[in-house]
Amino acid sequence: MNGFQGLRGDGVTVRCWHSIGTLALDGSQPDLGTFIFGVRNMIEPNIVRAFYRVLLKREPENERVVMEKTHAPNIEALLLSFVNCLEIRTKLADATVSYSSAIFEMPPRRVDYDISAEQLRACFDRVRREWALLGEQEPYWSVAAQDRFRVANLDDKAMNKFFETGRATAVQLQNCLSRTGRKLAKGLCLEFGCGTGRVTRYLAELFDHVIGIDVSPGHLKLATKHLQDAGISNVSLKLLGSPEELISILPEFDFLFSTIVFQHNPPPLQKFFLDNFLKKVRPGGGAYFQMPTHTPGYEFQIEKYLNSKPPMHFEMHDLPMHVVFETLNRYDLVPIEVLMDGRTGMLGSHTFFCMKRVVPHSVVAGA
Ligand SMILES: C[S@@+](CC[C@H](N)C(=O)[O-])C[C@H]1O[C@@H](n2cnc3c(N)ncnc32)[C@H](O)[C@@H]1O
Repeated sequence: MNGFQGLRGDGVTVRCWHSIGTLALDGSQPDLGTFIFGVRNMIEPNIVRAFYRVLLKREPENERVVMEKTHAPNIEALLLSFVNCLEIRTKLADATVSYSSAIFEMPPRRVDYDISAEQLRACFDRVRREWALLGEQEPYWSVAAQDRFRVANLDDKAMNKFFETGRATAVQLQNCLSRTGRKLAKGLCLEFGCGTGRVTRYLAELFDHVIGIDVSPGHLKLATKHLQDAGISNVSLKLLGSPEELISILPEFDFLFSTIVFQHNPPPLQKFFLDNFLKKVRPGGGAYFQMPTHTPGYEFQIEKYLNSKPPMHFEMHDLPMHVVFETLNRYDLVPIEVLMDGRTGMLGSHTFFCMKRVVPHSVVAGA
């Protein structure tokens, strides 16, 4: 067999060869004397070894397994073959178990969530600026951070995929309801941080009306177009300009829905929003929302934050779980299900599902 090989910039070796009487690319045996010319991509063995060391934290068991893996069609396929293997899943499960044990030893941490109105406004302005920029530059990628959703890569297929992920989130809500034997009262749903309307359009099928609020004009513009194109007419979208405005525009509603939004707001803002939303849930209504509560190592000091430079992309924040429960309690919401989720790509994020008592607890208890 004769041939040549070259290393592509992405670490894949391209091998070209010609051969007499070897196996064809489809595995069939050509007649002896057949001249075959083929091009085959081959991952560099050193890359495979590096994957073993970084992902599995060990050396490959032998050279044969390394060579087998060099035949992956590209780096993405190679990575998937590692991510899907039982060994790594077991390791991840171990990591979750050790996190779950370590969480009981979590020391007290400083998380400022009660601040002045002026500081709250400054936090909000910073979040608003960050998201307005993301809405202009990368409105889809900022919602689902995969390269195929970057403006430069978006095609019809990626766009369909993007909105399909929104359907999956709405199905998670339906699964939660059926798991817990609860029915939606339909009525009015408030979606906090609706973005491009990725989930909103599916919420519109579950409720009589949906109000989507967001701080980013760019995201809202796309949401408006998307909902129009999909022929959805039971959604109103609102641009939020300030925390005070929220208090004045917020009607009573039946259901609060929010995923991957609270996490981008500093704890005092998360507390402010949660408080104002839960206050407005009608008796018999509910709430389904996600927020990180136990991110390992997370702390928040308001002065430090306000004096710091915004990160390149997203800010990620916690609200301690006890603050969530105190707020639920304040407004007569009963937690039905609290599950740790993977929405932040880090440990410690939770999805809460709660229902508001029809008769206030204070009345039942005779207080
Ligand atoms: C990661 S995207 C998620 C969008 C949508 N929830 C989804 O899952 O497709 C976060 C969205 O929340 C919005 N957002 C962040 N903080 C907000 C706030 N304090 N008030 C309103 N919208 C906010 C952003 O502008 C952005 O559209």
